[in-house]
Parts: sequence; C-alpha cells; structure tokens
Amino acid sequence: MILLDKLAKTYGRKPALAGLDLVVRTGEVLGFLGPNGAGKSTTIRILLDLIRPSSGTVRVLGLDPRADAVALHRRVGYLAGDFVVDGRQTAGDCLRFLARLRGGAPRGRLDALAQRLDLDLSARIKGLSKGNRQKVGLIQAFMHDPELLILDEPSSGLDPLVQQTFVTMVAEAAANGQTVFMSSHVMAEVEAVATRVAIIRNGRLVALDSVASLRSQVLREL
Ligand SMILES: Nc1ncnc2c1ncn2[C@@H]1O[C@H](COP(=O)(O)OP(=O)(O)OP(=O)(O)O)[C@@H](O)[C@H]1O
Ligand SMILES: [Mg+2]
Repeated sequence: MILLDKLAKTYGRKPALAGLDLVVRTGEVLGFLGPNGAGKSTTIRILLDLIRPSSGTVRVLGLDPRADAVALHRRVGYLAGDFVVDGRQTAGDCLRFLARLRGGAPRGRLDALAQRLDLDLSARIKGLSKGNRQKVGLIQAFMHDPELLILDEPSSGLDPLVQQTFVTMVAEAAANGQTVFMSSHVMAEVEAVATRVAIIRNGRLVALDSVASLRSQVLREL
C-alpha cells in the first residue's frame, strides 16, 4: 500500500529524512513510532504530496503522489498532525463538505461516527475543545471507508474513553480489509492495535517488526 525507498528530505542543510526505506503491506496496521523531530510528520506529508522529497521513491496505492495527488486524496483517509479547518462552520457542515470533495460517504456513516465519538455536529468548530476538534479530524479520515488510512498522531488530545473508541475503530477498519499507517509517541497505544511497528530516529528506520518480537527484543536488552 505504501513503498518508500531511500527517501530523503532536507530543510536547508539539515536532513529531516536521511534515506528511509519502508513498506506498508495491504491489510496491516503499522504503527510509526519515534521521538519528537524524528521525521514522522515529514514522511506522512510526503505521502500526500503536501511536501516533496529531496530524493528517493514514493508509491502510495501503487501511485506516485506527485502525479496522482487528486486520485489519492479520494482513496486515502488522511488526518494531519495539525488538522485545521475553517472554524466558522459547524462540524456537520464541514464534514459534509469534505465528504462531497471525496466523492461522497455512505449514507448515515457521518452521523454514526459522530454519535460513537460523542461529537455534537451542530457545534461551530471554533467553539470546540481540542479533543472535540480532533474528533472532527478522525471522522473526516474514516467517513468514506478509504482503502488506506494515514493518521498523524490520531489520538492526540483524546480522553481515555474516546481513545478506546478510536482503537476500536482502527480494529474494525483492519477487519474490514483497510490498511492503517499511524504515527504515535506511545508504544502502549500502538501495541493495542498494530500488527507491526516501525521505529524512526533521525530520519532513518531503526526497527521494523511485529509488536510481539519488538517487545521481546526490548526485554532482552534490559
Ligand atoms: N518546514 C520545516 N522547515 C524546517 N525544518 C523542518 C520543517 N518541518 C520539519 N522540519 C524539521 O524536520 C525534522 C523532522 O520533523 P517532523 O515534524 O517530521 O518530526 P516528527 O517525527 O513528526 O516529530 P513530532 O513527534 O514532534 O511530531 C525536525 O528536525 C524538524 O525541525
Ligand atoms: Mg509530527
């Protein structure tokens, strides 16, 4: 679903990505972990063609994001780490607009997700708390049942109960054959949902393995 080969991105002189190789397989939930500044958001933005790499190869759903960005935005559910939308509209209007942009969402899906996450669709976005705004971001990523979900710190700002609902949504997406690539800082959260975990540091992949064997590796190192 995603293929990265020798991906590099340099801002000025400083490398944000220094030759990242990664493959995300169809149907898996891959957790993308790493400390602040490791290059997670940079990688994710390149997948959506929001920024362009300095060098290397990127394929998403077999397509080149630079050439096929419009097609990809319809087939991918993307939640940015800094999700922002026009705050004057209501959450419902915003989500209906975004659904139309992506060629529509199944009937009732939007309301069902809002109910599940306990989000008031009639509320204006600018009046929402950080966590409730994040729910709008989650709904717009999930509502059109995309083949591939790319989520940058999806559970940031969510309370523990909603976080649990999010974990269930990811598990259901996986059971439905959807692929999920999500970044996080917290191993525990990723452990709960991921089939494999990739760890990035200083713009390079330092580990990629199943949750179980990564955990036993860590235990051996102790
Ligand atoms: N627009 C930019 N201009 C200059 N440097 C940038 C820019 N965006 C990112 N960087 C740098 O690239 C590196 C990787 O940043 P990135 O945002 O990808 O990290 P991250 O893994 O998402 O971190 P976090 O966990 O804090 O979200 C950092 O050193 C950051 O300072
Ligand atoms: Mg980030």
